[in-house]
Parts: sequence; structure tokens; C-alpha cells
Amino acid sequence: MPLKKKILELKKKTEQASLGGGEKAIAKQKAIGKLTARERILALLDEGTFHEYDLFVEHEARDFGMATKVLHGDGVLIGTGTIYGSPVAIFAQDFTVAGGSLGLMHARKITKIMDHAIKMRIPLIGINDSGGARIQEGVNSLAGYGEIFYRNTMASGVIPQISVILGPCAGGAVYSPALTDFVFVVDNISNMFITGPEVIKSVLGEEISKEELGGARVHSEVTGNAHFYAKNELECFDQIKKLITFIPWNNTKKALRFEPQLPKKGVKIDNIVPDDPSKPYDVRDVICALVDDSDFFEVQKHWAANMVIGFGRLNGDTVGFVANQPLVMAGVLDCDSSDKAARFIRYCDAFNIPLVVLEDLPGYLPGVDQEHAGVIRHGAKLLYAFSEATVPKITVILRKAYGGGYIAMNSRHLRADFVFAWPTAEIAVMGPEGAANIIFRKEIMEAENPEEFRKEKVAEYKEKFANPYVAAAKGYIDTVIEPEETRKFLLHAIEISANKEVIAPARKHGVPPF
Ligand code: HXC
Repeated sequence: MPLKKKILELKKKTEQASLGGGEKAIAKQKAIGKLTARERILALLDEGTFHEYDLFVEHEARDFGMATKVLHGDGVLIGTGTIYGSPVAIFAQDFTVAGGSLGLMHARKITKIMDHAIKMRIPLIGINDSGGARIQEGVNSLAGYGEIFYRNTMASGVIPQISVILGPCAGGAVYSPALTDFVFVVDNISNMFITGPEVIKSVLGEEISKEELGGARVHSEVTGNAHFYAKNELECFDQIKKLITFIPWNNTKKALRFEPQLPKKGVKIDNIVPDDPSKPYDVRDVICALVDDSDFFEVQKHWAANMVIGFGRLNGDTVGFVANQPLVMAGVLDCDSSDKAARFIRYCDAFNIPLVVLEDLPGYLPGVDQEHAGVIRHGAKLLYAFSEATVPKITVILRKAYGGGYIAMNSRHLRADFVFAWPTAEIAVMGPEGAANIIFRKEIMEAENPEEFRKEKVAEYKEKFANPYVAAAKGYIDTVIEPEETRKFLLHAIEISANKEVIAPARKHGVPPF
């Protein structure tokens, strides 16, 4: 056959295979406000850069009427492309083909692109939209999931892994996203759960909708499984693109450097923290006053909001921020905020992103609920993550640094490289009120005017300990700085840390309090 004819044949085959599940299935997908798998990839990647592989893969299932079924691409698209010029590997499950269900060849396509991403040391993006294990393929489907989970684990800390939930992601299928670094969800489109509403109804007799059980809001606000929440798919793709600009291609590289910029004018750092230590403020205003162009990209914004984490740039280089949020529960540490920060610290450490910690917290949240929820175990993750991290680690104490919170928030004792304190810092075992009440309890009770005596003792304690100078006298903090000087000190600290090296004792790996 002449080349021209062969090319025509190729075009026809490509066109047919690219149709996915056909017009009817595509119309159904669109009717519920979803893009197709191909449209998603094209919207996310730089124009004209998507190179697709394995379009002609066919399934080999023969049981339950599968022998005669044509499933184009076996329900998943794989390939490579670029985002703002940075290479990425990508797969997108195609719900229009057998509900995007995962059979043997479908799984092989995913694991092929995963292996490719690991070998080429480039980020992997997985778009999930699937009815789960392909029921007709039995154990082959389960084997496929196992192969994916194994690769997710092996790729962890080597290449960035991003999961996008744009449809159902149910049963064991949820564990691939859960093993990845960042999970994106979209309102009214994403669903993630181990056991669905039908199972819950039949086993427990309880009625619950998909949204209430595991919708986008639930995973952004309640479970913490999702890191980014968007109103629609296009907003979600913008978020992914932005994330890609902040992170490196792999663990041997640094994030791409951007043109340095000053924080936006008009963001005055001096006016943010109120004089009254009991008054709240938004720590994100402090971050915006520090970072280039005042551009802070927050991660897990809606979950455990008493801790703020996210990326910003200092003089063009990416840094990870970990900050107590006085606006929410006075910024206390609890189970969820410890989990949230610990995972982010480990991410930054794995991918060469320096850490900047902004500290203002009254300590750990007291109460039976927290104790019984395992605040000892969860809180320990934070200590472990900071202690273990070897990237440059800088702490700025803005106001309160009380008790265990002082130690846990990247103190010198956990090997912070630089610890700065504002003159407003209060570093003590606990707040002056509580401290005076405990150490002078007897004297207060016996005093002629107990309330006046108590106030005197609170003031005395405050005078002695609620300032940065006792810690500075011991060298636990390096210097007391004016708020306005903070960016200057951070830039210098990061510059000085460029060749930081820490030799840890030889071991296979530690045993963190997972
Ligand atoms: C085979 C499937 C499928 C599956 C959907 N389809 N899920 N085929 N295996 N798991 C097919 C449907 O038969 C249908 O085919 C097409 O996909 C579209 O599905 P609909 O049901 O018409 O779509 P919709 O009404 O939107 O409902 C979507 C759904 C529902 C909620 C996801 O399809 C569903 O409940 N599917 C089964 C989910 C499930 O139980 N999966 C197994 C989980 S166990 P036709 O030919 O009619 O278009 C699991 C274990 C993994 O995943 C363990 C890993 C460790």
C-alpha cells in the first residue's frame, strides 16, 4: 500500500480511537458539566504539546460479554507534554469508555506512564474519573491497582505526584490519590469514598448523598484529603499550573527561579500584629508582606485553618511557609494542624524547598477530645518532620511561643538554622496568666486582695519571661529584629544556606509516628 494510503488509514484509526466512548456517552458527560478526558488534557497542557501514547491499546478480557466490546484506548489517555514549558507526564481516565473502569490494559497504560515519569524524573499528573475496578476483569483489575499503588510509593519523594479528582473515585481506587503529594477537587464533580452511599444504606441503614459523604467540600474542609478546591474544572487547571511553577521537576533539582520582585507596595508589616496579645490577626497578611509580589499560594486552605501552609517566593526562589494562624483558635496546635504541617514539611524537605516558619501560638489545644483523638501521636509527627528536615529552616517568632509549641515550631533545639524574634515575642513555658495562677496559687488565695495580688504577679511574670530577651540571652534565638527587617533577614539566611549540608547517621529509614 502506498504511503499516502497508509497515512490516510492511520488518520482514520486515530480519529476513531480518539472518539472515546462515542457521541452519546460524551453528551452524557457534558450534560453533567464535565469536560472529556481529552479536553481536560488539552486545557491543562501548553497548546500543541500533548503527545499521546498507547491510543491503540486494546483490552484482552473475554468474560461477561467483553470479547466483542471495543473500548477505545481502554478508557484512559496517557502521554507527555509541558506546562509553562516544564515537562510533565499525564494520564486521564475517560469515563465515556466503560465508565473509565480500570481493567488490566488500562492499568498497564497508567503504570507505563508512571514508569516513564519516574525514569525521566518529571512530575506525574493523574486525572481520575472512574467507576473503579472493572468488574468483568476480576482480580486483574485489583492487580492493576496494586501495581499503581506500588509505583506511587516508589515515586514518592522522587518526582512530584499530582492527583485530580474529576468524577467518581471510589473503593480502593482512592488510595492512589491518597499516596500522591497534592489532590485537587472540583465542586459538584469530585467524589471520593471507600464505601459508597448504597453500601452505607444497606449495611447501616443510613441515607447520605455522594456529596455529603465524599464531595469536594468534604475533602477540602473535613477530611483534609484534598489540597486544592475549585469551583470548576478550568479554575482547577489554573491551580495545577500555578503549583507547577512553585515546585521542582524532581528531587535532584530546585524549583525554577523567577525574576525577583518586591512585595506589593502598601502591605505594611509593622501594622499587622495588634499590640494586645489576645487580639487575633491574619498571618497570611504577614506572609504577603514578605514574599515577592505578595503572591502566596496556600495549600489546604480550608482544612485545619489554625495552621497555614503554602508556597511563596523570596528573591525569585520558592520557599515553603508553615505558620500558626492566630485568626483561627488562636493558632493552637491540634491533631489536624500537626498532620497538615508535618506532611508539608516532608514534601518541602524531599524537594529542596527551604522552610520559613512564622510562630505565634499559645501551645497545644487542651481537652479530652484532642487527647483521645491522639494528639500525642499526631503532634509527634510535627516534631519528627522538623527535626528530620535538612533543607534550610528559618523561624521567625512574631508573638507567642509558649510551651511545647515553642519547641515544636522549628525551634533551635530541633535544628532550625536561624531563629529570629520580633520585639513583640513572648517565649515562656506558658502564658503569663496561667503561669502566675499556678506558681502563686497559695499566695493569691491568702492575699488581702487576691485579684490585685494576682494581677501584680501576672505583670511580674510577664516582665521576666514574656519577651524575647531571656531566650536571646541563652542563644536560643539568634537575634531580635524589627518586623520591617524580616524580609532582609530571610533573604540573607536563604543565601547563606545555599550549600547547606547535614550528614545524618546511617540508617535504612527512621520510624516516624505515622
Ligand atoms: C465495569 C463499569 C464500572 C465498573 C461503571 N461501568 N463502573 N463497568 N466496571 N466498575 C460502566 C457502566 O456499566 C456503564 O456502562 C458505564 O460505565 C457508565 O456507567 P453508569 O452507571 O451509566 O454511569 P453513572 O450513572 O454516572 O454512575 C457512575 C457510577 C456507577 C456511580 C460510578 O457506574 C457505579 O456505581 N459503578 C460501579 C462502581 C463500583 O462498585 N466499582 C467497583 C468498586 S470496587 P454502559 O455500557 O452501560 O455505558 C473497587 C475495588 C478496587 O474499585 C480495589 C483496589 C484496591
